[in-house]
Amino acid sequence: VTIPWSIEDAEKGGYEHFMLKEIHETPRVIEDTLFEYLSEDIEIDASFSAGISEIVFIACGTSYHASLIGKYLIEKLSGIPVRVEFASEFIYHHPPMHRALAIAITQSGETADTLEAMRIAKKLGARTLAIVNVLGSTATRIADHVLYTRAGPEISVAATKSFIAQLIVLYLIALKLSRMPGSEVSRLVEELRIMPELVRKILEREDEIREIAERLAGFENMMYIGRGIGVPIAMEGALKMKEISYIHAEAYPAGELKHGPFALLGEQTPVVATLVPDDTYEIMLNNIKEVKARDSIVVAVAEENDMEVEKYVDHVIRVPRTEHIFTAITHSVALQLLAYYAARKRGCEIDKPRNLAKSVTVE
Ligand code: G6P
Repeated sequence: VTIPWSIEDAEKGGYEHFMLKEIHETPRVIEDTLFEYLSEDIEIDASFSAGISEIVFIACGTSYHASLIGKYLIEKLSGIPVRVEFASEFIYHHPPMHRALAIAITQSGETADTLEAMRIAKKLGARTLAIVNVLGSTATRIADHVLYTRAGPEISVAATKSFIAQLIVLYLIALKLSRMPGSEVSRLVEELRIMPELVRKILEREDEIREIAERLAGFENMMYIGRGIGVPIAMEGALKMKEISYIHAEAYPAGELKHGPFALLGEQTPVVATLVPDDTYEIMLNNIKEVKARDSIVVAVAEENDMEVEKYVDHVIRVPRTEHIFTAITHSVALQLLAYYAARKRGCEIDKPRNLAKSVTVE
């Protein structure tokens, strides 16, 4: 008797890869993580921030990009200064940590560089908070305070749903620390509650993203650009693309293109532009025109009712309209799908990319 499926196939729940399954779990992950901290009797206890004068994020990989988004959110909403350090650099550089709160972000809770950075931050006198997905992992034992993401187990090496869960915790921290009027905080919390619905809408348009991804799959170089919160969104989008499709994808703040990367543009280098509906929108359109003038194919990630952008670009990935800070969720899910379908078209081993590990426990 031959059984036509394996245990692994059963675990994939009908999806071709764990990565796709995990992207599709995102709406539920957002709901679970919000429930953890927004249900009636549980709230984020902000005692971790008492008396601090700055926040220093320490992380690696995708968690580092979540940290960059955390910096944007916390500085914007609370005015507290925030630094972001690669854990692998922090451990050799021992920066000043006077009255600092060190926030370590780590899906696995086992990344060696992040754990060592947490130990050093403590020695330097900082209080430590860890944002972790894996229950009982080493990071949770080192940190003074722990906030869990509720992403559940993530099998695919490339982080997807766990990244969005990290963002949810960061929105809640930024809102908790914010100096905005209570009515404004409540409005943003309500907007956060509809994110699962918005992500479901993106997943419904998966075929459109797949078609665009398949057109990009034949290139060997790509550039991702953005401004403001769009910069870390672009960085994470480019990381997803390079790690699973092996296309060399670089991310740049759009305003920096003229200081070097323009030399790389042309027919052979498509550009993915994330268009955030804030005060960076108009200047991003200008940057896109500059890119088009250098013959690059441009794919924009833009809101579904944006009728302006399609005049200037070759393809538009449409995402539902939301408050500009929440585009980190909508755009990132769209870019995860873009990377997934490009890698699939290239026949890559998506869940286990060459040379990479889910959890890097060596320095
Ligand atoms: C590895 C994984 C990445 C992850 C990074 C940090 O490189 O392949 O997906 O972002 O480690 O992992 P952590 O568990 O600390 O978030």
